[in-house]
Amino acid sequence: MCGIVGYIGFRQAKETILTGLKRLEYRGYDSAGIGIVTDEDVEVYKEKGKIEALERLIKNVEIKGTVGIGHTRWATHGVPNQINAHPHQSYSGRYTIVHNGIIENYKELIETYIPNIKRESETDTEVIAHLVDHFSQKGLSTEEAFREVIGKLEGSFAIVLIDGQDTSRLYAAKNKSPLLAGLGQGENMVASDATAMIHVTNTFKELKDGEYVVLDHENLIIKTLDGDVIDRDVYTVDWDTSSVETGAYEHFMLKEIDEQPAVIRNIITQYQDEQGQLNIGRHLQGLAVPSRVYIVACGTSYHAGLVGKRLLEQIAHIPTEVHIASEFLYDQPLIEGDPLFIFISQSGETADSRGVLDQIKKQGYRTLTVTNVQGSTLYREADYKLLTHAGPEIAVASTKAYTAQIAVVALLSIYLAEQKGIAGSIDMFQELRTISTAMDALKDMKDKAKHIVEEYLTDQRSCFFIGRLLDYAVCLEGALKLKEISYIQAEGYAGGELKHGPIALIEDGTPVFVLITDQRIAKNIRSNAEEVVSRGAKTCVIAAEGLHEEGDQWVLPRVHPLLTPLVSVIPLQLIAYYAALERGCDVDKPRNLAKSVTVE
Ligand code: F6R
Repeated sequence: MCGIVGYIGFRQAKETILTGLKRLEYRGYDSAGIGIVTDEDVEVYKEKGKIEALERLIKNVEIKGTVGIGHTRWATHGVPNQINAHPHQSYSGRYTIVHNGIIENYKELIETYIPNIKRESETDTEVIAHLVDHFSQKGLSTEEAFREVIGKLEGSFAIVLIDGQDTSRLYAAKNKSPLLAGLGQGENMVASDATAMIHVTNTFKELKDGEYVVLDHENLIIKTLDGDVIDRDVYTVDWDTSSVETGAYEHFMLKEIDEQPAVIRNIITQYQDEQGQLNIGRHLQGLAVPSRVYIVACGTSYHAGLVGKRLLEQIAHIPTEVHIASEFLYDQPLIEGDPLFIFISQSGETADSRGVLDQIKKQGYRTLTVTNVQGSTLYREADYKLLTHAGPEIAVASTKAYTAQIAVVALLSIYLAEQKGIAGSIDMFQELRTISTAMDALKDMKDKAKHIVEEYLTDQRSCFFIGRLLDYAVCLEGALKLKEISYIQAEGYAGGELKHGPIALIEDGTPVFVLITDQRIAKNIRSNAEEVVSRGAKTCVIAAEGLHEEGDQWVLPRVHPLLTPLVSVIPLQLIAYYAALERGCDVDKPRNLAKSVTVE
């Protein structure tokens, strides 16, 4: 949701910022704009719709300058139109601003400080620019005025400001919205995430709530709201522009599906020492084995949590509950013993999960975040953190982050089992190596996925995914993947539950995908499949080798029974992808969805 970029350096700001904004497109937006410092002024261009619309607007305009800001807006206050698009300028025209998030007290601030200001747009953002102008006219320097205003804002924000009277620096600040600083040689940047800056630098500094940053060509200085300079370490990422471009692929989603075997291998490398031993413990120093685990997450990450529960319970013998963050927030279960809260989040910025983290920390419980994004809010604010090392995930539909989350929780389970002295635990690295080979084989079976789509999903409005135990968890994920990108109504159901209601929906030709990877229930789920076939359904059976029967549509390589989701999800991801493609949907940017859901 909303993307933000600020650049100061020697490159042409227009191109540098537009490249950054395109990398943030995955977050979801409905208008875009840039503000560039030129010889004349700070020139602002904005347009409703996609960045291409903005590019068309400025195609024949010469905009030369090496300082600027840019924004993609996902409308909150005010409809998505050209006027409400960012940047916004203050009443005197001196200050130009872009902002992500929601200022909750903007009406009070108007009444208290600038009651007579006429707003151009319906946005809360414009008010921030007017306020900085107001305080600077009262005699404060721009930095002081910026600090003053930041201190008064309530809500979530990431802001970048240009002072038209001194364009040698940019000012930026954040609260509960993502913002990261990127450091170059003779150039500096801020943006919503690293992908938007990777064409300029791979060296970053985290920014935290309650701080602001002043950047010029040479320096990037982080300060507290009292003006004290903060010393912050830099970190580098080991990926480059190819990680954030589709390359030979038509879509990020397919590229990311294909990256999964490499991600699993990378996770092995990241969490194995030179002797081949698990060294995940170095990230968990001081973590006593919990008596209970509560996993909190949303969407696909919640589905990974369902698998995580089985891993923690079966491998580490720790009772584990899995909760949807937005439910937990208002209906906290009774908490027992000395628990650990595990937050699973690709982006590390999901507002619902962040809300629970805040709530739980106030109650003094221990927290661990499993995330793909170093420096994200959930990463920073948890006591312990484990990175999933999946590389940037750009497609809105999560694929490689899901499998990476499961793999990391599997390693965590082994670590906790070792801490508890549970003997005979699994050689997880070996099992994960087997998984990566199995994934390699599956990703090369794209023709099979295409044929299944042609046979089952060309013109269907709804379908079912059924499975039991871990297969049920994967069915939920398969159904989510299909519905979010192809808009086919898809239900993931526990096979045994069908007869308790949903079987009423089965009619002639209803596609039912049946997952079978667990010997214990192989017969039962086949009976459930029979039940729907006899009511007209058309089943597509995806079964593990050894459990398959003649006529099954897809046979999966055999892997460790606790890790089957890592392979069984791949056909479902591919089927969702080709179904969306077949229906002409925008695969990487499905309607109404944002990659990083930073509002509750
Ligand atoms: C679905 C999807 C979403 C996210 C959910 C949580 O493909 O991507 O369901 O899983 O919005 O996001 P994170 O994992 O960033 O907390």
